Amino acid sequence: MFGRQYISTLLVTQPVGEDVTVKGWVRTFRNNQFIAINDGSCQETIQAVLEMGQFDEETVKNIAPGSAIGVKGQLVESQGRGQVVEIKVDDLKIYGNSPADAYPLQPKRHSLEFLRENAHLRFRTNTFGAIFRIRHLASFAIHKFFHERGFYYLHTPIITGSDAEGAGEMFRVTALDPKNPPLDDSGEVDYSKDFFGNETNLTVSGQLEAELGALSLGNVYTFGPTFRAENSNTTRHLAEFWMIEPEIAFADLGDNMQLAEDLLKYVIEFVINNAPSELSFLENRLIQEEKQKPQHERSEMSLMDKLKFCVQNEFQRLTYTEAIDILKNCKPNKKKKFQFVIDEWGADLQSEHERYLVEKHFKKPVILFDYPKNIKAFYMRSNDDGKTVAAMDILFPGIGEIVGGSQREERLEILKERMAEMDIPEHELDWYLDIRKYGSCPHAGFGLGFERLVQFLTGMGNIRDAIPFPRFPGHVRF
Ligand code: 4AD
Ligand code: MG
Repeated sequence: MFGRQYISTLLVTQPVGEDVTVKGWVRTFRNNQFIAINDGSCQETIQAVLEMGQFDEETVKNIAPGSAIGVKGQLVESQGRGQVVEIKVDDLKIYGNSPADAYPLQPKRHSLEFLRENAHLRFRTNTFGAIFRIRHLASFAIHKFFHERGFYYLHTPIITGSDAEGAGEMFRVTALDPKNPPLDDSGEVDYSKDFFGNETNLTVSGQLEAELGALSLGNVYTFGPTFRAENSNTTRHLAEFWMIEPEIAFADLGDNMQLAEDLLKYVIEFVINNAPSELSFLENRLIQEEKQKPQHERSEMSLMDKLKFCVQNEFQRLTYTEAIDILKNCKPNKKKKFQFVIDEWGADLQSEHERYLVEKHFKKPVILFDYPKNIKAFYMRSNDDGKTVAAMDILFPGIGEIVGGSQREERLEILKERMAEMDIPEHELDWYLDIRKYGSCPHAGFGLGFERLVQFLTGMGNIRDAIPFPRFPGHVRF
């Protein structure tokens, strides 16, 4: 294809004796003779060997880390160690040279911060090649999973007039002139004169629209970008991230938890089976990184162990109330080691609490359910106790919350009461209420943060390294 063969294919089929053509980017060039080429098709490089004096000096000078080249020649068994086959070069073409002294990616270890600043070039590194191939595999596996289970992929809007989570952390979308906006009688910006005749924002979630689809198509899922203007400068938050949101008709919270657990296990297993080189590269990278840490902070499990552990074990299910009891009585809480000490039922859990439950107490993924209604969104189904809602969060080691979901309030009157309690005007969500008037049914769904999943799969410590071009407060380069 494209006048070239993929290195991934050649390393598997090994057609020794045949002429092959490889095009890619130089990783290293040793002794003016041995070129390591990577073409993005896999983690590995292929070695292309020149004979001394085969090409003029000018050509050889243009072979340097980063340059784009094509080589043609016979595939032969390698004389040297470290590779089984190599290419004995007959023809060489330099597509784009890369001045050796100026190329920012020198053959040495670069810090992740440096690479983030140079996110346009970091694809060229082994680490980010591995991450983005895994990111692809994970998104492919997600579509495959849902397709096999009879779910339809639904595209929900990016620009929206509603605030799904009711958290008010939205980016405004407007076509008005910021220097001279139209004003109404009371001096406020008059959004009725704006492009859509209304205030609009970037969506924080496709859930409400997905619910409408599910109540006719049966099972749907979204997989799209979502935006949050929360000023969270953490290793787990992005201002622009991708979310997977299935919505299932005639389902309750138990079905919802099962679907989420099945999905996570399916995707992890798919990546284990399809990215062995990437995972082993990232695992070694982590081992090196761990060595820099003091003994007591080092992880007991390797990346592969962690992934397999998740696939092989049932997630621990317990209610919020049970979790609070564990947390109230745990050592770090009693010794006030938590930044937020848990002293009563109703407290919102912070990531330190979530991670304690997962990493210290249960030592496995945890599904918490039946949360106090006061800390959850308006659309979650009220439980009979009058205090809790049928919500669930899945907590993962090293990540904390990876999934958040619930059974939805399908009863019109109760939903209206909840909205009134939370000051959500009915007229803003008339369409959402309509679906409760015309053939409402029990339904449930959840949101899986895609970058948090990629973070888990790759073992990266910072979510900014799980997406090609991260957006976070103060950063919008590229
Ligand atoms: O818990 P959240 O806010 O739930 C919702 O948006 C629901 N509407 C989902 C649903 O029921 N359909 O977000 C869901 C998940 C979180 O568990 C987390 O993994 C991820 O989205 N997430 C973020 N990921 C990266 N950066 C952020 N700022 C995130 N906020 C949430
Ligand atoms: Mg949540």
